[in-house]
Amino acid sequence: MCGIVGYTGKNAALPYLLEGLSRLEYRGYDSAGIAVIENSRIDVTRTGGSLSLLEEKLAPFLPGTAKTGIGHTRWATHGAPTEQNAHPHLSRSGLFAVVHNGIIENYTELKEQLVSDGFSFSSQTDTEVIAQLLEKNYDGSFHGTVRKTAAMLSGSFALAVLCRNEPDSIVCIRKESPLVLGKNENGVFLASDSSALLRHTKDVFRLENNESVLIENGELHFFAPDGSEEEKKSIHLNRSAHDAEKNGYSHFMLKEIFEEPAAFRNTVAPFLKNGRIEFSGFSPTKEEVKKISRVIITACGSAYHVGIAGKYAIERLAKLPCEAEIASEFRYRSPVLDERTLVVVISQSGETADSLAALRMAKEKGAKVLSVVNVPESTIANESDSVIYTAAGPEIAVATTKAYCAQLGVVYLLAAFLAFEREENGKGELQSFIREIRQIPEKLSRALDYAQEAQQTAKQLASLEHIYYIGRQSDFAAAAEASLKMKEISYIHCEAYAAGELKHGTISLIEKGTLVVAHACCDRMFEKTVSNIREVKARGARVLAVTTKKHLKELSDMEYVLTVPETDELLFPVLEAVPLQLLAFHTALLRGCSVDKPRNLAKSVTVE
Ligand code: F6R
Repeated sequence: MCGIVGYTGKNAALPYLLEGLSRLEYRGYDSAGIAVIENSRIDVTRTGGSLSLLEEKLAPFLPGTAKTGIGHTRWATHGAPTEQNAHPHLSRSGLFAVVHNGIIENYTELKEQLVSDGFSFSSQTDTEVIAQLLEKNYDGSFHGTVRKTAAMLSGSFALAVLCRNEPDSIVCIRKESPLVLGKNENGVFLASDSSALLRHTKDVFRLENNESVLIENGELHFFAPDGSEEEKKSIHLNRSAHDAEKNGYSHFMLKEIFEEPAAFRNTVAPFLKNGRIEFSGFSPTKEEVKKISRVIITACGSAYHVGIAGKYAIERLAKLPCEAEIASEFRYRSPVLDERTLVVVISQSGETADSLAALRMAKEKGAKVLSVVNVPESTIANESDSVIYTAAGPEIAVATTKAYCAQLGVVYLLAAFLAFEREENGKGELQSFIREIRQIPEKLSRALDYAQEAQQTAKQLASLEHIYYIGRQSDFAAAAEASLKMKEISYIHCEAYAAGELKHGTISLIEKGTLVVAHACCDRMFEKTVSNIREVKARGARVLAVTTKKHLKELSDMEYVLTVPETDELLFPVLEAVPLQLLAFHTALLRGCSVDKPRNLAKSVTVE
């Protein structure tokens, strides 16, 4: 999604702004721009397309002498990804420049009013309304004008604003969309995502909803929502800029797939203590756990697929009713929730708008909310009753791999933890489940051996237009994720179905040569899935079977087979993910796709 950076200090601003924007590229964007202020003039440079085009445009002016500026990568919502619609937007006389993340919901009525006041607009964006409104509201106080303007906006926003009359200042304010700030001996840095600050400082200030900040002559002045100045404590980030580099891999996605064993181990190991599970951020008493009457897991995209796998685990091990719900749907339902419902929100970024809204709805209705989050300083982590952090490290490729794997680690442990505390399950079964979890990192490393073969098999897939993925139970959760991964990075149309559901309609699409990826790892479901494989083969499908070694004989007539190590049925989604991510990666590469930054996608989806 959109990214914001800003700098004011003793050095030239342009190089810092461009470097900061490059750190945010992974979030997904389609145009970019910067504004610097110097000699009572704000200069704006913008381009449609990639950051390299902006860098080319600015190359003759680097490093420049302006010491204050803001920058933006835009992910189009209102208006096409053109130069005209790119941020920063200037107010009509060039008094203000603004960059904005989020969506202004009342921009149409504000625009109508501004037009009747004589303002004209040069873009189709909601953001330009903010620039013009700032100029209309200007009363001589830069900070006061930004606050007054923000109060007129509904929707979500993180704003960084320059004012021609205050060349050494930046004002920021935010509601719903994140913004962080940091300082070192060279000046003050701000960004919508802490990965753009890590090069400069590890101690960051997180702006909360409706808080604002005036950065003036290198000093940060924070203001509470009521306008009173306040002290703010910084948060220390336990990661380095180096974590977000490719370290010799051709792509972030490939590097992150190879980091999966470590991501899983680093996530689960700290919580496994003498055969028991102790979470640092979630420690209800036995009585409190026994009061939980059901669990609802809500999330988006891949994190929702983790929820499907979690549902099977919680039902089987903890014997608790459990549902997985897509957050964008769940947030608008009228679910009957109470203090005995545990709502689990899963989110890598911790900023996903729909997941956050689902969290707030659940809290309002009295449920307890536990979140599973990879970014500690995120809004979802902040607003939950309890948090379990995944330790996947920064994930830069837009398509999730290692964070998905780490999220699975947490839901498995959560299922076992609830089972222990509810005493609903034989200790033997739980102990053996935990032993299996401990072995997952090593099995993930073995699953990575598929890397070579994936390159070969990808050659057979690269020219396809459609792929169907099928599986039952945990294999279905794995199929759903494998299908999403392939479609989002290779742009091949892929669909995942519960294997038994295919014949209720979709089988009409199977014809000679159609590729079906059949997930057939779960022993309990194996024969049933094989019947579904036979049904598609009888209609001419080619099948890529995903299975374990012991089933190879029954699947000897498949066109392609890939095997994963044996494990407990519940844990297959994590092991099946690796080869299918590798296959998606190599297929996308052969199709010439932008693997790390697929078109139209964003890493942190902060709009609905
Ligand atoms: C797919 C992918 C997305 C995210 C989804 C939720 O590869 O990455 O489907 O899983 O946008 O994002 P988070 O986990 O940040 O809430």
